[in-house]
Amino acid sequence: MQRRPFGPSRVPLPVLGQGTWNLELDDRPSAIAALRRGLDLGLTHVDTAELYGDGAVETLLGEALAGRRDEVYLVSKVLPSNASRAGTLRACEASLRRLKTDRLDLYLLHWPGSHPLAETVAAFEQLVASGKILAWGVSNFDVDELDALRAVSDDGRITCNQVLYHLEERAIEHAVIPWCEARGVSVVAYSPFGSGQFPAARSRGGRVLAEVAARHGATPRAVALAFLLRRPSVFAIPKAGDVRHVEDNARAGDLTLTDDDLRRLDEAFPLGAPRPLPMI
Ligand SMILES: NC(=O)c1ccc[n+]([C@@H]2O[C@H](COP(=O)([O-])OP(=O)(O)OC[C@H]3O[C@@H](n4cnc5c(N)ncnc54)[C@H](OP(=O)(O)O)[C@@H]3O)[C@@H](O)[C@H]2O)c1
Repeated sequence: MQRRPFGPSRVPLPVLGQGTWNLELDDRPSAIAALRRGLDLGLTHVDTAELYGDGAVETLLGEALAGRRDEVYLVSKVLPSNASRAGTLRACEASLRRLKTDRLDLYLLHWPGSHPLAETVAAFEQLVASGKILAWGVSNFDVDELDALRAVSDDGRITCNQVLYHLEERAIEHAVIPWCEARGVSVVAYSPFGSGQFPAARSRGGRVLAEVAARHGATPRAVALAFLLRRPSVFAIPKAGDVRHVEDNARAGDLTLTDDDLRRLDEAFPLGAPRPLPMI
């Protein structure tokens, strides 16, 4: 599993992590086995949120990560409706309790909301000072929102922007990725398989994915992940509740595509015109 520097602190993290949205709907023992297998394979960046299953996913993770907390780079998110100064502190305490841990490695604002960003940032910095979180960042921030965030935070404090990014939705390549790269902010690609909308095998894109995959002895999913990871600022967090899927995805962590592969994928999944940041 390749690792690369993450955020301004440049802590080395695996290029692939594990998403957990809807994990509470999967068969519980299988979901826990899949997560733990992922850790064995180096997928140690684990992404969750108070939103997921209304806390049920954090509770599940508290069980799944028992005895293995120190292997994990654990990320959770505060809902915008909770992101006042006091609300952020309360939400973090509740997440820590459900996760059965004393600290988060990273805490994110889930998407821009109506509480002033300065309040959320002040709460994040208070949580850092007390050791309850080690770093903070945001999710679903477009460039104007990133500029507003930068205006209320000190340089080098924004660790990442977690955003929608998959082969059929490359909007962040226009402005969000360049903004982040210029400031040492990592980009975390969520829904890297389109959240259940992976290109069909019979589609043009599906055929190109299969051809590239065959050349590398890999799967189309692994090729899709490797395409997103071609830029050193990007990390990805696929969700897999099935242990075979986790094993398949982990192989993408060592797959490097050739310039010809990248050109063919770029043609099959065109970037499109600049547009506002999409989110799901
Ligand atoms: N910040 C945000 O606003 C935001 C929004 C959306 C998502 N996220 C984060 O990003 C994570 C990933 O996104 P996502 O859950 O939307 O979707 P995703 O990772 O794009 O796709 C997940 C789906 O792909 C399947 N899958 C995974 N690996 C596979 C493989 N190797 N072969 C075949 N199928 C495979 C999974 O099936 P199984 O589960 O059956 O294995 C699941 O149905 C989330 O879980 C969450 O942590 C964040």
